[in-house]
Amino acid sequence: MIQAGIIGLGVGERHIGGYERHPECRVTRLADFCPTKRADVLTRFPDREIAEHADAVLDDPDVSIVSIASHDQDHFAQVMRALDADKHVFVEKPLVLEIEHARQVRAMLNRKPHLKISSNLILRRCPRFLKLRADIAAGDYGRLFLIDADYQYGRIHKLLGGWRGELPGYSLVLGGAVHMIDLVLWLTGDRAVEVSAMGNRIATADSAFANFDLVQALVRFESGMVAKIGCNGGCVHPHFHKLEVYGTDASFVNGLESAFVYRDRHPGRRPETMREAYPGVDKGDLLHDFVDAVLHDRAPEVSADDVFRSLAVCFAIERAAHTGKSVAVEQL
Ligand SMILES: NC(=O)c1ccc[n+]([C@@H]2O[C@H](COP(=O)([O-])OP(=O)(O)OC[C@H]3O[C@@H](n4cnc5c(N)ncnc54)[C@H](O)[C@@H]3O)[C@@H](O)[C@H]2O)c1
Repeated sequence: MIQAGIIGLGVGERHIGGYERHPECRVTRLADFCPTKRADVLTRFPDREIAEHADAVLDDPDVSIVSIASHDQDHFAQVMRALDADKHVFVEKPLVLEIEHARQVRAMLNRKPHLKISSNLILRRCPRFLKLRADIAAGDYGRLFLIDADYQYGRIHKLLGGWRGELPGYSLVLGGAVHMIDLVLWLTGDRAVEVSAMGNRIATADSAFANFDLVQALVRFESGMVAKIGCNGGCVHPHFHKLEVYGTDASFVNGLESAFVYRDRHPGRRPETMREAYPGVDKGDLLHDFVDAVLHDRAPEVSADDVFRSLAVCFAIERAAHTGKSVAVEQL
């Protein structure tokens, strides 16, 4: 039985069930520094102890896997401590907030190649996007030339208050668009090369929120494909992953109820409806695979390289949006 611990019990609470759906994993340590949250989680998991400090997880020699689901600004230090203590790490996105910190995590992993790291880039488990990826791989879309992917947040209250609103420079690119970036990289297998971007903060103008709440980036890929990738913190719209994929043979347009696939340019012809579930995922869905990857010493579904690849594009977009210059994606 492999033992796991979880730091932060917001989305982290969902990791409990994710780990324990694996017959060889048990969550033995939980930590959250908020007493109200601890009391709340105890009503659903009355047989567990929940510590106040992350140390209870990080210092337990019997814990082999640590989920880091704390606030973004604490990820780097906790990831480094967990790796230093020879623990495998499943970290909520974003892995870290600074490029230099990403380099330090990479260097630590290079020194400890037996350790696994992954991140909760959960859209890969969405049934509709899995079908889209299989169809792209089968050649149904021909050559891809454009993807339009937008993280429509629909939760502006989380930017106006709470830890996201209080964190100086909270990045909706690192915190939200990262899902769309990973999705585009995973759907296409292509490599992002160069980025230009613009942003504004009109929707949160009268608040303390200090970074862009709207960012739109143009990303050039090795194949020549272009992707428009953005995050839209102010949209008056339900939380949604806007996705349009244009290939030489077909176009895919995601919708809230179903998606549409156009295989014809004729205006009278109806598109095909793709009814696979969206989002259709639970936030703990990647954990069974992660435990298996640890037990069988193989790369997890979201590999370390995948985590660094999407992060590299995030850093390039942030820099491009803030400098107004086009930025080469620096692989990490
Ligand atoms: N993968 C996803 O789809 C997804 C979805 C939501 C959030 N997240 C990520 O998960 C992380 C947490 O976000 P959330 O929405 O759950 O926030 P949240 O505020 O709802 O919950 C976080 C919990 O962690 C606790 N906490 C924070 N830092 C801590 C620390 N250093 N030590 C102990 N306890 C700590 C807080 O008290 C809180 O109860 C963020 O990094 C966020 O980006 C990922």
